[in-house]
Amino acid sequence: MKQNRMNKIPSLTLTAWLLALPGALPAAQPASDSIDVEGVMRVAARKLAAFDVSQPKKTAYPTDAKGAQWRTVGAADWVSGFYPGSLWYLYEYARDQKWPEAQAWRTRAETWTAGLESQQFNSSHHDTGFVMFDSYGNGYRLTGNPAYLPILNRTAQSLASRYRADTGMIRSWGKIDDTNKFTVIIDNMMNLELLVWAAAHGGTTRGGTSADLRKVATSHADRALELFFRPDGGTYHVVELNPRTGAVLRKRTQQGKADESTWSRGQTWAIYGFAYMYKATGERRYLEASLKAADRYLARLPADFVPPADFDSDLKGLEFKDSSAAAIAASAFLRLHRLVEAPALKKKYLDAATATLRALTAAPYFSKGDDKASLLVYAARNYHADPNHALTNTSLIWGDYYLLEALLQYRAITTPPAKIK
Ligand code: GLY
Repeated sequence: MKQNRMNKIPSLTLTAWLLALPGALPAAQPASDSIDVEGVMRVAARKLAAFDVSQPKKTAYPTDAKGAQWRTVGAADWVSGFYPGSLWYLYEYARDQKWPEAQAWRTRAETWTAGLESQQFNSSHHDTGFVMFDSYGNGYRLTGNPAYLPILNRTAQSLASRYRADTGMIRSWGKIDDTNKFTVIIDNMMNLELLVWAAAHGGTTRGGTSADLRKVATSHADRALELFFRPDGGTYHVVELNPRTGAVLRKRTQQGKADESTWSRGQTWAIYGFAYMYKATGERRYLEASLKAADRYLARLPADFVPPADFDSDLKGLEFKDSSAAAIAASAFLRLHRLVEAPALKKKYLDAATATLRALTAAPYFSKGDDKASLLVYAARNYHADPNHALTNTSLIWGDYYLLEALLQYRAITTPPAKIK
């Protein structure tokens, strides 16, 4: 039986454990476990500001980059919330650190958030959770701007309109009333947070109640738990259902290597999404699902803590990695660290996050220079065997977003509270 390497962590210091691994991180790793959050935030500030200055059209959102320029997409694309969300994280850091330019970050974040207002009415895909919660959601959390609340609640309503009682799920892809096929993807777990949050803030389904809205999220999560996991804790990417009966038609992949392989980023969406659902509901089955996905991810992770685009890929080089999956995992592990109770488990997920963040904030995965638009390099939108393909060996805006999110959490967890004088 393959041993789960992370089970070894509690008996060793993190550094000793890393060095004990076969093919372990090189000895040049800093002896201290600390991450240079301030240094990364300074680079992030420079790169995020450079995009804002270079882009006069404040509704052209960065998506991916092979070099110094982001390719851009419009507000309806699933990635549009990540740049405004990153600006909000910069504002949060700048405000907390009392940077003199903190207010300018808020203004930037507000400007780019405003470009997404139309998306509250978008029910053509399931990703409005990503789009609006990362932008308006972070904005509301940080400023309490009352104008943001109805926008978030209306978005939740639009998203919930893709739910069908016949399947008990939200339709991720496809026309809202397609009678032939009902497609759900593991990524959809990430869009439930908006629904649960809105239900707690006066949001309702169209013509229904807040309880109905919450029910949409829990029903979706319960069926996802039943449909997406393999016995070993790996996940499927896509499940197609009969729209009338909810019966499974097919399980397959779109972005991974093969239908029975494990697409790395999908695995991290599962860790993160179920962790959130546990936090929101207290239902232990969601925590167990998240831990199962996390432990499978950790068991299959290579020594440098950044997965290949697909865990079943034979292509192990940097150009086939997905650093964005590692960033999502780091943030999810920090959530798990906060959610689990046993000290050994708390340590296990903090150590996993720390090791991942250390890898992501150093060469070769972190780019300080202006030759790259992004912070993180070596990411894959989809698994692809050709390193020159547009979808692989690239940078992805959500990798940077989850890196910043993870660093803010890491700072909150590891910085001791100021002493009361
Ligand atoms: N949610 C789309 C992706 O992860 O590529």
